[in-house]
Amino acid sequence: MAVLVTGGGGFIGSHTCVELLQNGFDIVVVDNFSNCNPKSLERVKELTGKDFPVYPCDIRDLDGLCKVFDNEKIDSVIHFAGLKAVGESTQIPMEYYDNNVVGTLNLCRVMAKYGCKKIVFSSSATVYGYDNPSPLVETMKTGGVTNPYGRTKLMIEEILKDIAASDDEWSIVLLRYFNPIGAHESGRIGENPNGIPNNLMPYITQVAVGKREFLSVFGGDYDTPDGTGVRDYIHVVDLADGHIKALDVLNKKTGVAIYNLGTGNGYSVLDIVKAFEKASGNPLPYKIVDRRPGDIDVCYSNPEKAFKELGWKAKRGIEDMCADSWRWQSMNPNGYDD
Ligand code: NAD
Ligand code: UD1
Repeated sequence: MAVLVTGGGGFIGSHTCVELLQNGFDIVVVDNFSNCNPKSLERVKELTGKDFPVYPCDIRDLDGLCKVFDNEKIDSVIHFAGLKAVGESTQIPMEYYDNNVVGTLNLCRVMAKYGCKKIVFSSSATVYGYDNPSPLVETMKTGGVTNPYGRTKLMIEEILKDIAASDDEWSIVLLRYFNPIGAHESGRIGENPNGIPNNLMPYITQVAVGKREFLSVFGGDYDTPDGTGVRDYIHVVDLADGHIKALDVLNKKTGVAIYNLGTGNGYSVLDIVKAFEKASGNPLPYKIVDRRPGDIDVCYSNPEKAFKELGWKAKRGIEDMCADSWRWQSMNPNGYDD
């Protein structure tokens, strides 16, 4: 029996595939390659020395997904496939609702048809909205999300809860990620954004390899120790490990379980800049500019529930995150095209 990994070619998916294979799981990947390079999966095979089936398929394609379930013995699903750019989601909201919400519904329909009712879903800290104070705890109310991307995550969480309530055979884990950065320590797989990066770390690494002139630090007047935004950065390999632990829950109980995946520590933009300078050995040019609309001052997790119930804890600190992000970018200045 295999774990179906949707969006397995992407940043978090590819790292999770490595951890799954190294932990003895068989995997099957579905990806439409809309936001990844298929070479990421070649490198996963090379890193692990293991082969697995890859289906170039959109999760909205019902017949395509049915073929995957006809051909493979799927025991459970880790569902990463989705669009994730906040700014873009405000420009093309219909595409976001279709891809993320309709895509997930389609996937669940096919899973139900084949009697596969175990799913881990990639949710986000964004579902806590802007009103809850950090540290964020799973029991806090969700909502107050201000962009279509975030709303797709919230809607999917609600849909999955309704599915579990309607049929007690379903077992669903909602993982709320904080800010994943870093890369596999081999430097062979990492984050590979198209165009101008929206997120902090890929922007920093592109400045560091000379692709961009300087980092714009969005806001220096937040209510934080150094005035810049504070986030809970988590190493992508720690995040991937959290999925392995979540699979245990799927096999042990039904219903819905929700876990934060974060470190519980908040670091400012300038903390990350300093840690990155140390890792790369070079100064990183930056300018403090206006705040980015929609940003909040502070966002970090309380990760205790995942520790108590899953036995999961992030092991890597910001030094490792920066060193590994730098290794990936410096070994692959043009991403998977190198
Ligand atoms: P990513 O874009 O690197 O990976 C997503 C993958 O899904 C890509 O390979 C893409 O080609 C594929 N995909 C997209 N739509 C698809 C579709 N309709 N059918 C099949 N494949 C499709 O993103 P990521 O950073 O690896 O994120 C993975 C998941 O985690 C996403 O759902 C994202 O919203 C969620 N998440 C990410 C972050 C983050 O900071 N990276 C934070 C919170 C939640
Ligand atoms: C963003 C999304 C969030 C999504 C997450 C992962 C918003 C408002 N939130 O989170 O929904 O789940 O990405 O995809 O977009 N920063 C700079 N300069 C940059 C880029 C970022 O100073 O060029 C700062 C930001 O202001 C923030 C921090 O760095 O304080 C982290 O930003 P980012 O990596 O974009 O993540 P979030 O905004 O936390």
